[in-house]
Amino acid sequence: MKLEGKVAVITGGARGIGKASALAMAREGADIGICDLLASEGRETVEEIEALGRRAWFTQANVAQRADCERFFDEARQKLGRVDILLNNAATSVRKPLIELEVADVEKTWGPTLWSVFHCSQLAARLMVKQGDGGSIISISSVQGVRPYPLSSAYNGAKAAVIHMSRTWAAELAQYRIRVNTIEPGWIDTPGERQYASEEEIQALAAQLPLKRLGRPEEIAGLVVFLASDKDSGYVTGSSLRMDGGFILPRMTKLEE
Ligand SMILES: NC(=O)c1ccc[n+]([C@@H]2O[C@H](COP(=O)([O-])OP(=O)(O)OC[C@H]3O[C@@H](n4cnc5c(N)ncnc54)[C@H](O)[C@@H]3O)[C@@H](O)[C@H]2O)c1
Repeated sequence: MKLEGKVAVITGGARGIGKASALAMAREGADIGICDLLASEGRETVEEIEALGRRAWFTQANVAQRADCERFFDEARQKLGRVDILLNNAATSVRKPLIELEVADVEKTWGPTLWSVFHCSQLAARLMVKQGDGGSIISISSVQGVRPYPLSSAYNGAKAAVIHMSRTWAAELAQYRIRVNTIEPGWIDTPGERQYASEEEIQALAAQLPLKRLGRPEEIAGLVVFLASDKDSGYVTGSSLRMDGGFILPRMTKLEE
């Protein structure tokens, strides 16, 4: 197993990509700490991890708030002993054009999508430096961090910042053998995405994608395991890995005869 003896903590791990990553890391031997706003889904995820024979623990927390992030790390250390891997996964987006955005919409987006990544990465890095055994900090960014898809400027800006802050931290933290990387998913079929579109709309839009389907949370989780594992990615830091089924590629067009 690739992550035996490791402890991973995950923000927003109650469902979607965070939950799939929690289960995938547990299958590779890691013990798992999760926080989320959603208490019952968080506890269900913990039960599924425990059924795999790993230790798991959940706390309800709003990672937009520094105090909640500090409590998450303090409790994680008490319950699980240490932290070797951080997955910054929680995020949210208010989708509106610039001219309609309220300051409150931007704050609502940046709290979990940007500030939580700063808070949790800093807390994880401080702890990992003290532990002295290196570590892996992984943040879920997005293809929207590199392509300016309309109606999501607050989210796009936050995801771009996550990529660039992570590269900076990779440079600062390499001396402690702490690797810092980001993942840019394309369109992944999660409960969060299902809030924005019906099944019919999803199928119609998926047919226009190069690979004709949405990605699965388990596929992103495979990349999380890769970046978490020193065996697989011990020489990878400051990278942003895209898994988007070709989402951002130019589309083929039929040339006129
Ligand atoms: N699904 C996609 O198409 C897609 C594409 C690119 C990037 N992403 C990114 O992947 C990550 C996971 O997205 P998902 O699609 O699985 O979403 P999701 O909404 O299904 O899951 C996100 C989880 O984060 C939690 N969360 C949100 N705000 C929080 C807060 N303030 N404090 C604690 N927990 C909070 C939610 O309760 C939820 O359980 C996000 O960073 C998202 O931006 C998703």
